[in-house]
Amino acid sequence: MRLSGTFKPPGDKSISHRVALLSLLAKGECVVSNYSTAQDCMTSVHAVNALGGGAVFSGEDLNLSNNGRILKDSVHVDCGNSGTTMRLLMGILAGVSGRFILWGDDSLMKRPMERVAKPLRAMGAKISCDPRGTPPVTIEGSELRGIDYRLPVASAQLKSALLIAGVEAEGLTRITEPVKSRDHTEYMLGMFGANICFESGVWSVRKSAMELPSVFSVPGDPSSAAFFLCGAAMLEGSEVTAEEILLNPTRVRFLDKLKEMGAQIEVQIAGDSPEPWGSVRSVYAGKLSPCKVASEELPLLVDEVPILALLATQANGVSVFEEIGELRIKESDRVAALVSELGKLGARLEIDGPNLLIYGPTKLRATDELESFGDHRIAMTLAIACGLIGEDVPIRDMSCVSISYPDFFETLKELTL
Ligand code: S3P
Repeated sequence: MRLSGTFKPPGDKSISHRVALLSLLAKGECVVSNYSTAQDCMTSVHAVNALGGGAVFSGEDLNLSNNGRILKDSVHVDCGNSGTTMRLLMGILAGVSGRFILWGDDSLMKRPMERVAKPLRAMGAKISCDPRGTPPVTIEGSELRGIDYRLPVASAQLKSALLIAGVEAEGLTRITEPVKSRDHTEYMLGMFGANICFESGVWSVRKSAMELPSVFSVPGDPSSAAFFLCGAAMLEGSEVTAEEILLNPTRVRFLDKLKEMGAQIEVQIAGDSPEPWGSVRSVYAGKLSPCKVASEELPLLVDEVPILALLATQANGVSVFEEIGELRIKESDRVAALVSELGKLGARLEIDGPNLLIYGPTKLRATDELESFGDHRIAMTLAIACGLIGEDVPIRDMSCVSISYPDFFETLKELTL
């Protein structure tokens, strides 16, 4: 199989979640174009409406409207499969009067929430999780005070929850990250008029009234585009272009990895609002060098590890992904999923303490069946692996791709030659 042509991935998932959820704390009306209709982002739309906000589609645009405060004061919110919805809501609801219970599907009910609850409690929040530190999360909104907090782990969701809570808290909230992670919340809080600034490696935010911009356009999702951009780098004769995708440097470190591995990548920036965006062309360039991901780079490509791991199986030598423990607590244990499923195809993956090693190149071969574990990024990685093998191996639970990329198979078909 080879991939050829131009495509537009759905609107960025992280930015879509944030614009919808932050509307709960802002005043005004906003027409959002290119909001992602992926299942996760629709979960945030439903959550906004359940909490008394206004999020209504008019054609393809999402119209947001609110008066600056949450209207409902006793709500159970189903966060589905979406960790971003749950963790951001924890930050939003911690300072809002009312009683809120957050829950989700089987995967989300196993994911760690105590890492968010703990610092919120230090801000004065009344918030509890299951004794295992997982959902359901119960929040009794209360008065918050600022906090000076160094994140124990580089997580944009955790950082975002605390910064958002900081907008509702008395006094100053200061957040320091161990290493940089995606910064959409910081951008958006600033754009909505919050009192936020960055100085000497610390984000500071104060209690603020926020206002929605009248229009907001969501750039395409680079993490969705990554499946085809990386696919083109490993499928002989391929050449694809992703158009109108987000090019925020905290999201596209995977493109640097592709270049370092010897793939031919051309980036063209076309605009900078609400964040840098443009097009990326990826052309098959033959032999690939191994992929080396240092621990401090991981947050900048955390969602692209599965597809980079597949690419690494085709590289000449040993690829190293350092300290990838965070991948074990995503929608599935992605480390275990990659080792078992790429292993079934003949790839050599080895867990070395906290690191993942991949020995390439391997000519992958078909097997009876593959398992997605209901994890959208594992499912899409395995679909590209089938292209590499040139045979359709049945993959269990493929419908989960709709969590982030509902049109994945249509685009795959259009690009396939
Ligand atoms: C996200 C942050 C990352 C990422 C997730 C989306 C966000 O999670 O893996 O898909 O939108 O903030 P962590 O914060 O757990 O690293």
